[in-house]
Amino acid sequence: MDLKAHQFISYFETEQADQLCRLAIVENFHAQKIIFEEGEIPDFLYLILSGQVEFRKFTAGEKYQTFALAKHNEFFGEFGVLDGQPRSAQAIVCGEATLAKIPRDSLMEILNNTKGSVVLKLLGYIVQQLRSTTSQYVNQMIHQEKMALVGEMVNTIIHDFRSPVTGIHLASVMLKEQHPDEETVEWCDIIQAQVKRMLGMAEEALEFAGGNAVVNKQPLNLTLFLQHFEKLNRLYFKNTKVEFAFKATDVVANVDENKLMRVLQNLVGNAVEAFNGRGGRIEISAWAKDKWAELTISDNGPGIPEAIRERLFDPFVTYGKRGGTGLGTSIAKSIIEAHSGQISFQSNSGEGTTFYIRLPRINE
Ligand SMILES: Nc1ncnc2c1ncn2[C@@H]1O[C@H](COP(=O)(O)OP(=O)(O)OP(=O)(O)O)[C@@H](O)[C@H]1O
Ligand SMILES: [Mg+2]
Repeated sequence: MDLKAHQFISYFETEQADQLCRLAIVENFHAQKIIFEEGEIPDFLYLILSGQVEFRKFTAGEKYQTFALAKHNEFFGEFGVLDGQPRSAQAIVCGEATLAKIPRDSLMEILNNTKGSVVLKLLGYIVQQLRSTTSQYVNQMIHQEKMALVGEMVNTIIHDFRSPVTGIHLASVMLKEQHPDEETVEWCDIIQAQVKRMLGMAEEALEFAGGNAVVNKQPLNLTLFLQHFEKLNRLYFKNTKVEFAFKATDVVANVDENKLMRVLQNLVGNAVEAFNGRGGRIEISAWAKDKWAELTISDNGPGIPEAIRERLFDPFVTYGKRGGTGLGTSIAKSIIEAHSGQISFQSNSGEGTTFYIRLPRINE
């Protein structure tokens, strides 16, 4: 955008606006360029003409946490410019960006001689930014509180849940021993595999609530994996009138098998629930692309309700379901991200939904 049209410049009368434009140094920044570090003494105010800038802090977990984002036509660095205190966070360019830098000393001089209405506009902007950062922070706190609560609940549930589930497991072992015919053995194996999954799921819910998705990555052939997935769900699909199909090239992903099973189970379970007893078709495809193993999970159901599309992956977002906790997709996302992968979706009302997943691949 043109510097003159930037909202910060538009706060000023023509003469001062021209002066600011002359003072401004317009610069292009490449992706991931650090504009300033936490603790630096402020020397510029930055106006964003194009692109985006992220603000992040180094946290106790030895990683950066992003807490705010500034977009084109916004400005940043005004706190340091106004009070001269060291920068309170790191500013880093995401994508590419064009910024106009206005030197602090000259800007302060202009502000000193400016009309009260300009200062009021500036103050209005700052208050609005503070409000939105505060509300983001409060939402994060509430989220953490909720997660801690879920953690406690899950802890209690797992405790009570283990003994009946172990009972089911033992009963199926006995049954298999007493009736070693092929069909019974096959059904008992399914029971045992599902019981193992139930225990795994409970453990994972606990991990997720504690915020530490630990992954045990191993090479996994996705064709074999999807065959196994189909077998585990054969009865479920039959009972819910779901036509299931998968196609996969022999791509080998570097993943935690139990966790990926969990992701597919959550997404496919959602699709089945969305069919609402009417049945439908679910398809999974997997193939290799560059350094990724890519997967799509498609259904021809009613589509994800528009009201929740933007927040789908947030925890506790559920819609139109009795007993939905709203954790299924957020667990899926946290698992995929713990593998350094990506997940997104596309959904059209009345036509269906497709989830796109990318996972790191093993190169043969
Ligand atoms: N394939 C889909 N088709 C239509 N709607 C979907 C689909 N997947 C998810 N949804 C919608 O998104 C909501 C959130 O899904 P999510 O799995 O996160 O939580 P949930 O299914 O409500 O609860 P939980 O999975 O914790 O039991 C669902 O309630 C449903 O309304
Ligand atoms: Mg779900």
